[in-house]
Amino acid sequence: MPIPAPIVTVAFAGALLTPLAVDADLLSLLAATGLVLAVLGKHTARTSQEIADEDLAASHQDERLRTFGQLAAGIAHEINTPAQFAGDNLRFLADAFADLQGFLDEARAVQAELERSDAGHGPAERLRRAAEAADLDYLVEEIPRSIAQAREGLERIARIVLAVKELSHPTGREKQPADINRLIESTVTVCRNEWKYVARLELDLDPGLPQPSCHAEEISQVVLNLVVNAAHAIEERFGAERGPQGLIRVSTSHPAQDVVEIRVADNGCGIPDEIRDQIWERFFTTKPKGRGTGQGLAIARSIVVERHGGELTFDSRPGEGTEFIVRLPVKADTQE
Ligand SMILES: Nc1ncnc2c1ncn2[C@@H]1O[C@H](COP(=O)(O)OP(=O)(O)OP(=O)(O)O)[C@@H](O)[C@H]1O
Ligand SMILES: [Mg+2]
Repeated sequence: MPIPAPIVTVAFAGALLTPLAVDADLLSLLAATGLVLAVLGKHTARTSQEIADEDLAASHQDERLRTFGQLAAGIAHEINTPAQFAGDNLRFLADAFADLQGFLDEARAVQAELERSDAGHGPAERLRRAAEAADLDYLVEEIPRSIAQAREGLERIARIVLAVKELSHPTGREKQPADINRLIESTVTVCRNEWKYVARLELDLDPGLPQPSCHAEEISQVVLNLVVNAAHAIEERFGAERGPQGLIRVSTSHPAQDVVEIRVADNGCGIPDEIRDQIWERFFTTKPKGRGTGQGLAIARSIVVERHGGELTFDSRPGEGTEFIVRLPVKADTQE
């Protein structure tokens, strides 16, 4: 049974993201960087008035969050340096231990030879006892494993730091060409806790993807909302108890030189025909109280269509799965 992660409202550089469950270690990192505004515990359904009030408060915080974003990017950068030298030292330890192991094998061979001669029996016994006291067999087996685990942990820190850096990049008012593939990698890393218990997540990213002119943090929010919806739909179909049976596939392509496409596909519960048109409405949700507020798709659509002049559509087979498709023009053709 997965340990329930706290649900927090996370803000990256001025953008208020969907409430989401985050890893405990990521949460503390975000808290340290000032990215987490509040740990809200269980969210409860809110009235439209309450939501409007919160929107207003959020816009007042906008400026503060921009500063938090810059601070977070700076701290992420600072974490990188010690993580890098810890990594270099671990690499040295792994190589050094491999060399030491060669020496130990040789020492054991000598010990065996000594044991066979009368004069050497005493020293061989001393060596044997010293090896036993140090629990040498255990050490020889465990040291490489523990170095490998420490390196894995550091790699994970490096990935989180990179994701925070990418997402907290100070945002200007102007649209900028963005590397959508990297943005997707960062976004799925940051919300990993949302999907890892219910699904595998596959990325299929077009290496020759053009860089559309966009507000990167907003596109990241769209991807986040779609991935969280996909995870919820998978949980709705399979439940969360039996391990990850779901599959979320995030892919990018460019059907033409001036269009970039992002697809988020899941094998979740699907969208029944009766609600096909309603899902875009603000506050429309089929999720239980506290799970969804019905805003994710409305926000995503307004970001894609109004802010970026793109399209947001979906294909769904009820009971089998859904695919959301974001199309973005490479050249900005809207004012904002
Ligand atoms: N991938 C999907 N598979 C199945 N149903 C979906 C999927 N994405 C969205 N839906 C349906 O569309 C509804 C609206 O989605 P939307 O993201 O706007 O709100 P929500 O997920 O319910 O709440 P919020 O995003 O505010 O937390 C969902 O409640 C769900 O019924
Ligand atoms: Mg949603």
